[in-house]
Amino acid sequence: MTDRSSQDPQGHIVWSSGKVTREDREKLLGQHGCVLWFTGLSGSGKSTIAIAVEQALAATGRLVYRLDGDNLRHGLNRDLGFSPEDRKENIRRVAEVAALLADAGVITLVSFISPYRDLRDFARQRVGDHFFEVYVKASLDTCRKRDPKGLYRKADAGEIKLFTGVSAPYEEPLNPDLVLDTDSGSIADAVKQIMELIP
Ligand code: ADX
Repeated sequence: MTDRSSQDPQGHIVWSSGKVTREDREKLLGQHGCVLWFTGLSGSGKSTIAIAVEQALAATGRLVYRLDGDNLRHGLNRDLGFSPEDRKENIRRVAEVAALLADAGVITLVSFISPYRDLRDFARQRVGDHFFEVYVKASLDTCRKRDPKGLYRKADAGEIKLFTGVSAPYEEPLNPDLVLDTDSGSIADAVKQIMELIP
């Protein structure tokens, strides 16, 4: 990690380098820190897949941590809504947290809708090596039918504004590291494909 402060043109905030490196931590843990970034519509299966991957990794003795959009909106991001500006800040914060966790040596699973391409690119750039964008792809029709939280119904009735896929945009990844089609594919197959990505 390096100093990237943009609020400090005069250089008054100085990066403090420790004596223990990422490599030291990775050696200790016997794994490489990385970020698997799951993006897709609400109801596409991001959280379900991340939970299954988390379980599979933990079962093989790996240190893994999951950052879920809904969960972080209960705490770190509880002050944010769903305007483009708030989503931008939401993604900026989780990208920074994911970068820290990867630097700590942790296999980090991020499941956020993260609808904007430029913000996912920001996350990739912030994390650096070992960042994998996983597009959890399901048609809007499928997500609407699943509607696990009843949110599409509310969005269609106009009770939720700026709902992704209904009244707010979702920009599909152009060059993801992996596409998981959850219209047809199984969770077990998705887990298998993700395990092959992990360094
Ligand atoms: S993101 O777009 O900013 O990345 P995030 O993943 O944190 O979204 O949160 C998405 C979750 O918030 C959805 O799974 C859904 O449960 C809930 N939600 C509530 N309102 C909205 C909305 N307007 N658009 C999308 N998701 C919403």
